[in-house]
Amino acid sequence: MATGRIKLGMLGGGEGAFIGIAHRIAAYMGEKYELVGGAFDVDYQRGMAFAETLELNQSRVYPDVQSLIEKENELPADQRMEVVSIVTPNFLHFPMAKSLLEGGFHVICEKPMTMTVAEAEELDHLVSQTGKQFCLTHTYTGYPMVRQMKSMIASGQIGEIQRVDVQYYQGWINPVIHDTEKRKSVWRLDPAKSGISCCMGDIGLHAFNLAEYVTGSEIDQVLADLNYLYDDNTLDVDGTVLIRMGQAKGVIRSSQIATGEENNLTIQVYGKTGALKWQQEQPTVLTWLTEDQPAQILKPGNSYNSKLAMDSTKMAPGHPEGIFDAMGNLYLGLAKAIRNLPVQSGEYPTVTDGLRGMKFIEKVVLSHREDNIWITI
Ligand SMILES: NC(=O)c1ccc[n+]([C@@H]2O[C@H](COP(=O)([O-])OP(=O)(O)OC[C@H]3O[C@@H](n4cnc5c(N)ncnc54)[C@H](O)[C@@H]3O)[C@@H](O)[C@H]2O)c1
Repeated sequence: MATGRIKLGMLGGGEGAFIGIAHRIAAYMGEKYELVGGAFDVDYQRGMAFAETLELNQSRVYPDVQSLIEKENELPADQRMEVVSIVTPNFLHFPMAKSLLEGGFHVICEKPMTMTVAEAEELDHLVSQTGKQFCLTHTYTGYPMVRQMKSMIASGQIGEIQRVDVQYYQGWINPVIHDTEKRKSVWRLDPAKSGISCCMGDIGLHAFNLAEYVTGSEIDQVLADLNYLYDDNTLDVDGTVLIRMGQAKGVIRSSQIATGEENNLTIQVYGKTGALKWQQEQPTVLTWLTEDQPAQILKPGNSYNSKLAMDSTKMAPGHPEGIFDAMGNLYLGLAKAIRNLPVQSGEYPTVTDGLRGMKFIEKVVLSHREDNIWITI
């Protein structure tokens, strides 16, 4: 059995890429991984130049996933990559993940996991068949106070859930969408690269995942109203989804044309005896409401938090940790699984969450196209 630092490869995440840096910092955070190579860029030469800035051995920088799998499998087991992170645009997630699992590697994959539900089902099956670990990086599940929210709901501290309200507002597509030329330059607005949805598939998906993560319940049905703004724009840039979760009802509100918004993700869960509220732009604050007490503010690193939340904090109270640390917590959870150590439920999202997410995207788009009808997930 392999020991020591887990040898990590990366697909995508090259010079100027958005999320690759979060993965690299996350990998180093717990001193459990060592980045040894990858295929970092769609342009091989650019990928080589980027790898040089990371001081990686050039012999471990590959033009594509197939050569990575072939060459890495020729190396002695103690040098070979054990796990590979996929941080490319969406359309590459499925073929890369499939090849890696079949090639004998554990996988860390960005969301959305695939382009279709059928592909997600195939990956789900492959993970069971190969016995390899699969982590889907729904980053926000790594925040200590999100984990505290999950623990408190599970232990009944707000009672039976009555309403769930998740909002994910960004504004970055606003200056892009009104210009037909600029619109063509963004891969997230290209169905061939992004999939059947832009806004809901990109950030509405995080909201969906967060709702299911903190409540520990599945969303049963959705009714969606999406906004495309222009007839020649084929992917949604804004939308509202009514949700039903057992007895509870609620809403997922998501937009990339919410002018001026940065990364305004908020979740509010209302139970029979209390409520919990969290905002990504203030991640160290969890607000707890009850009927007969003043509102309480819970913060990370304090002993009143659950084990899951405490284990997700490295610093003493009052030393804010953020998005890199949240991603790092997912990497830490996966490292335990790779090294066959005990993993608590909720330490990292899996292929099952990826499949749930793809069902959400498909049903939301279908609901909108069918003139806003309720659809069962
Ligand atoms: N978890 C999160 O919170 C979060 C946040 C942002 C993005 N994402 C997801 O991460 C993925 C990447 O998004 P991004 O914003 O970083 O994209 P990006 O366009 O900034 O970067 C993509 C990178 O992939 C590389 N690439 C493209 N094709 C490749 C190929 N065939 N082989 C190797 N590399 C290739 C590009 O050269 C680039 O370096 C998306 O699926 C997105 O949904 C997740």
